[in-house]
Amino acid sequence: MGYLKWLGHAAFELKLDEKLIYIDPWITNPKSPVKLDDISRADYIFVTHEHGDHLGESIEIAKKTGGTLVSIYEIASKAQEQSVKNVIGANMGGPIRLNGLVAYLVPAFHTGLPTGVIIQGKEATIYHAGDTAVFGDMALIRELYSPDIALLPIGGHFTMGVKEAAKAIELLKPNVVIPMHYNTFPVISADPNELLEIINRKGLTTKLVILNPGEKYEF
Ligand code: NI
Ligand code: MN
Repeated sequence: MGYLKWLGHAAFELKLDEKLIYIDPWITNPKSPVKLDDISRADYIFVTHEHGDHLGESIEIAKKTGGTLVSIYEIASKAQEQSVKNVIGANMGGPIRLNGLVAYLVPAFHTGLPTGVIIQGKEATIYHAGDTAVFGDMALIRELYSPDIALLPIGGHFTMGVKEAAKAIELLKPNVVIPMHYNTFPVISADPNELLEIINRKGLTTKLVILNPGEKYEF
């Protein structure tokens, strides 16, 4: 069985097909339930873009675990310059084959070399949207990859807010959405229950799973 554990902000621990993965592990965020010392294993570390609240402690985690950092080419190169041994620098487009899993970097509308990340395993396909505005080609992400679980920012100001996330759900049609990138600071305050209201009002079949930092969703 796999799981997604929210570590606050945009940081997740993902267990998928027995691989342990971190996505955007800024684990010194104000809501984080874990410390760097708590992390001893990581097979892969994904970084959606270079902003500090996403790059976070990914370099430190890659160094201490020997895990492979996967990101857009320029970020991976910088990690290598900082003595991270295992990096995969890729770009938006086609499959990145990872020893059983397949990943894709997909577009995101933001700054800082932005991407979203799709991670496909046998157990599930996960889409971490990174920081992004809503965009119409989320329909292409649906068509090509049919994510089972989408991790979507809802905090506004830097990313989609609740209204835009509801449109993203209409385009992506995932089975499950887990909101992220909200309530870390006052400027990105949001109420995920407002998203639930819109989902219900529109009659969408997507299940909204609201996690507290440290909680897991098993799949
Ligand atoms: Ni950002
Ligand atoms: Mn951010």
